[in-house]
Amino acid sequence: MIKAVIFDLDGVIVSTDELHYKAWKKMADKENVYFDEKINNNLRGISREKSLEIILKLDSKKYSDEEKAQLMKYKNEIYIKSLKTITPNDILPKIKSILNTLKEKKIKIAIGSSSKNAKLILKQIGLLDYFDAISDGTNITFSKPHPEVFLKAASMLHVSPSNCGVVEDALSGIEAAKNANMVAFATGDALHSNLKDYDLESLLLMV
Ligand code: BG6
Ligand code: MG
Repeated sequence: MIKAVIFDLDGVIVSTDELHYKAWKKMADKENVYFDEKINNNLRGISREKSLEIILKLDSKKYSDEEKAQLMKYKNEIYIKSLKTITPNDILPKIKSILNTLKEKKIKIAIGSSSKNAKLILKQIGLLDYFDAISDGTNITFSKPHPEVFLKAASMLHVSPSNCGVVEDALSGIEAAKNANMVAFATGDALHSNLKDYDLESLLLMV
């Protein structure tokens, strides 16, 4: 029985893929590292640190921890600037009505995002105070597919993991949901996942 639903943020509630891509691309061009949209697709759901590692894999140069921190800072400043352009109109269409229905049905809702910018994004789209709990990149050690971000959300909601649904657009996120023993609902890229339980469309039929 589903008593709570944990939503990934980037790509589920609002589409930030392109903004991440443009910021990483500027960093990669500055470093003369090859980077394209295909590589960007593999970064979905993956933490900033792990994303940088994946991007720099194609570079023969060795980077110190300090240099890596500088590169992440560079990328994040560009990304944050672009987040300022996001408004409530950017909430992905079917999500608003799903969230409202869950609230009406008294199902708890949470955010389970790898992003350290999650609260800034939620503020931009006017949903900062909307969720019962926010678990994000600021309270986790391990990146998806590790289940930590979702387990922390379930614990904040006081709901057992097996009673939680997760909505995800990333393959790594669906894997994380299954690692957390939760019910995985897929949207976007995650529809290709063999590990998903249902498509997002089925969610409201199950609460
Ligand atoms: C995830 C995105 O939600 O957050 C990833 O899908 C991103 O692409 C990750 O790398 C970390 O985001 P941030 O905002 O902390 O750099
Ligand atoms: Mg996502």
